[in-house]
Amino acid sequence: MTPLSTLAPGSGWVKVRASGKVNLALRVGAPREDGYHPLATVFQALSLFDDLGVRAAAPGHYSVRVAGAQADRVPTDASNLAVRAARLLAEHHGGAQERGVEIVIRKTIPVTGGMAGGSANAAAALVACAELWGIDVSPDELAGLGAQLGADVPFSLRGSTALGTGRGDELVPVLSRGSYHWVLALPEFELSTPAVFRRFDALFPGAPAAPPPVPEALLEGLACGDPARVAEHLVNDLQPAALDLQPALGDLLDAGLERGALAGIVSGSGPTCAFLAPHEDAAVRLSVALGGLGLCREVRRASGPAPGARLQAG
Ligand code: C5P
Repeated sequence: MTPLSTLAPGSGWVKVRASGKVNLALRVGAPREDGYHPLATVFQALSLFDDLGVRAAAPGHYSVRVAGAQADRVPTDASNLAVRAARLLAEHHGGAQERGVEIVIRKTIPVTGGMAGGSANAAAALVACAELWGIDVSPDELAGLGAQLGADVPFSLRGSTALGTGRGDELVPVLSRGSYHWVLALPEFELSTPAVFRRFDALFPGAPAAPPPVPEALLEGLACGDPARVAEHLVNDLQPAALDLQPALGDLLDAGLERGALAGIVSGSGPTCAFLAPHEDAAVRLSVALGGLGLCREVRRASGPAPGARLQAG
């Protein structure tokens, strides 16, 4: 895989790393008038990172190159979330035509996988461009700009473990002790987030206006650092919709449970399946066993919680 140092060599580049996420709880209410669904969700950032580098370009010029896993599936035009993030920051600080930036991204987070890879890139671009352009921007302002780009961007900026309400963009920290060992199974196919929400609406026309609460026992399990308790209370209201669109996910979830996972869950809107293992050795065994089944494109291990978007030395 092309390292970021090849894409963004030497001085003049500002580098930022941002994590993917899994939703430990994702409770969903009926769609609002703006089409978004009210959520009550617990995010955990995982040690699955995208690296992003930026350097100054001529005023009005915004470009992005993408390398790494599934790079060909990421748009490199003005719709790229990192480009949109850079422009948005510039519009608020000096003007988009007065600034310019060259962006490079090395992807590791699955693309369209339900792990907020695009949001991680947007968060990284906000942090990197603020540094590059010497803009003194508060965490609250960054989160506000991030929320305009996507509901998961404020969490990608912050990382760790957090409770999200509203569209998932109103965050409070969640106490989480210890480290959680995850195995992530990446299917061949993609699932579009809007399509999964639409299927949720079709399957649950009577969904309550307010999302159901996240399980108290999940929060208690996190506070105690008890993976078994956390596993018991993982919940994703979008999972039936994802399974309805891609029934093969059911076989993948069963396969993980039969091979040592404490629990398995579709990550966000999917299709990535996230399995919580009791400890690191079990995660290694599970990832090897799942990898040999031919049910998915790739199997990865990650631990959580991981930090939010942060500057890298050099
Ligand atoms: O905010 P973001 O662009 O990541 O969301 C992608 C899509 O997912 C939205 O356009 C919407 O269809 C759906 N979504 C939703 N309710 C949320 C978050 C996302 O319906 N809270």
